Amino acid sequence: MLVLFIGMQFIRPSHQNPPVDPQQDFLAIAQPSAEISTMLKNACYDCHSHETKYPWYSNVAPVSWILQNHIIEGREHLNFSKWGTPEAFGEEPEEAFEEIIEVIQKGEMPLWDYKMMHPEARLSEADKNQLINWVENQSLSGNAPVSDNQPKGFEAGEEPEDDEEEH
Ligand code: HEC
Repeated sequence: MLVLFIGMQFIRPSHQNPPVDPQQDFLAIAQPSAEISTMLKNACYDCHSHETKYPWYSNVAPVSWILQNHIIEGREHLNFSKWGTPEAFGEEPEEAFEEIIEVIQKGEMPLWDYKMMHPEARLSEADKNQLINWVENQSLSGNAPVSDNQPKGFEAGEEPEDDEEEH
């Protein structure tokens, strides 16, 4: 068992963050208050951006593997560092804000195991309400992520057209 544990330590995921383009960053684009900005950074940015801060235990397998999976998957679903690009959100970009609100409301995000290790990521009911209110306003101010075929500034509440482009 000990030998296995020691052996596992040699399989080490990379802790290098991909580069950040400040112009594509969600917080740079949306410019929230310091309070909102801190909440998003503390609760979401470790898994949903290129600004992951790796804790000491992220060097210890198998925790390191689980963590790396969360980060890779997290970035695929939602990447605040790529907000200005079509890769910001894994699904329909215009649904990004709705999904963000939903996971906060239901307490699905941040993931529970992350909250256990990161007290600063736990959102109180008041925090959640404040964050959700702010995100709701974002969808009105045209800060939704861009998609391949839709210009920036998509209006909230508008139904996306069936695939066909109208001119
Ligand atoms: C510990 C890493 C981690 C943290 C912290 C985290 N997430 Fe996630 N997030 C994930 C992973 C992994 C997935 C994809 C798998 C899943 O949906 O459970 C995901 C998926 C999502 C999705 C997509 C859900 C869907 O149905 O496609 C949204 C939206 C999201 N997260 C928002 C947030 C927000 C907002 C925060 C901060 C309040 C946050 N997450 C914090 C790891 C994290």
